[in-house]
Amino acid sequence: MNSGGLMPEQASNFAQEMDLLYYVLIGLTVFFALLVFVPMLYFVVKYRAGSKADRTRPTYHNLKLELAWSLIPLAMGLVVFVWGAKLFVEMYTPLESENALQITVVGKQWMWHLQHPTGQRENNELHIPTGRPIQLTMISQDVIHSFFVPAFRIKRDVLPGRYVTMWFEATKTGRYHLYCAEYCGTDHAKMTGWVYVMKPEEYERWLVASKWGAVSDAARDTMAEAGERLYNDMQCNSCHDPAAQNAPSLAGLFGKERRLSDGRVVTAGEDYIRRSIYKPNSMKVIGYEPIMPTYEGLIDEQEVLQLIAYIRSVRDEADDLTGRETTPEGDS
Ligand code: CUA
Repeated sequence: MNSGGLMPEQASNFAQEMDLLYYVLIGLTVFFALLVFVPMLYFVVKYRAGSKADRTRPTYHNLKLELAWSLIPLAMGLVVFVWGAKLFVEMYTPLESENALQITVVGKQWMWHLQHPTGQRENNELHIPTGRPIQLTMISQDVIHSFFVPAFRIKRDVLPGRYVTMWFEATKTGRYHLYCAEYCGTDHAKMTGWVYVMKPEEYERWLVASKWGAVSDAARDTMAEAGERLYNDMQCNSCHDPAAQNAPSLAGLFGKERRLSDGRVVTAGEDYIRRSIYKPNSMKVIGYEPIMPTYEGLIDEQEVLQLIAYIRSVRDEADDLTGRETTPEGDS
C-alpha cells in the first residue's frame, strides 16, 4: 500500500496495519465532522433571523434517533479500541520465538547504546536483518527516553529502573531514522540515529566485519561471554559457587520461581536479576543471609544486561548438559 507521502515509508510487519488503523480513524473523524457541520450550516441558513421557515411544531425528543447516535458511535469506538489494543498488546508482549534476535538498548543523555547478542556494540546505529523478529530489551541509565522508529511504526518509553520490551520485524532493506521521542534535556533533539536494515546474508557479513574491527579480546566477546568475564572479575563466584553454600547458585536460575524472605514468590527474570544486583536487600532469597553488597555505581546498565545474558546462558547449559558448548575462556 502506498501511503502517498502522508505517512513515512512502511518497513516493518506492523506498518500496514498501523497505517490502516490511522486511515480508519481519520476517515471516521472526517465523516463525523461532516455529519455535524453540514446539517449545522444548513440549519444556520434555514433558521436565520427573519427567514420564513416553519417554526410551529418544534421537536423535543426522538428516542430512536438518540439511541442511534449513541449506540452506533459507541460500537465504532469500541472497534477502534479493540483493534488498537490488539496491536498494542502484540507489539509490547515479549516474543517466545527462539528465532528472535535479542537486542539490548540503553538510553542515556543523549545517545542510544545498543548491543547484539553476539557482542557487537553500536551507538546511535542499529544494523538488523530482514525476515527475523527483532526483540528489544530497553532501559534508561538516567531519565525517561522514548525509542521511536517511524518507518517501523514502533515507539516505546524507555524508563530508568525497569526493563521494557518491544518487537518488530523489518520487511524492507534501507536506512531509517531512529529518534528519541520524549523530551529528555538539553540535547534531546540530537538523540537521533539510523537503523540499517540488511538482507540476512549482508547482516551476517556485517557481524563478522564488525568483530574484526574489535581492538581487544573483550570487545570480541558475545554478551554472555562479556557477562562471564565480569562475573569472574567481580568475583561473584566466591559466594555464588554451588559448593560455597552462602549464596544461591546461579546456574539454572533464569526463569525459575524464587521464594523471598518476605513471603513473595517472584520469577527470576531480567528485572529480578537487575534488582538483586543493585538492591540486594530488597530481594532476600529465603534460606540465605543478606550478605550481598550492592553493585550500584560499580556496574552500569550495559554490564547488568551482560550479566543477565550470562545467567541466561548458564540456564541453557543446566537444561541441556549433553548439548553443552564449551565457551572460550576470556583471559589467557
Ligand atoms: Cu532521550 Cu529525548
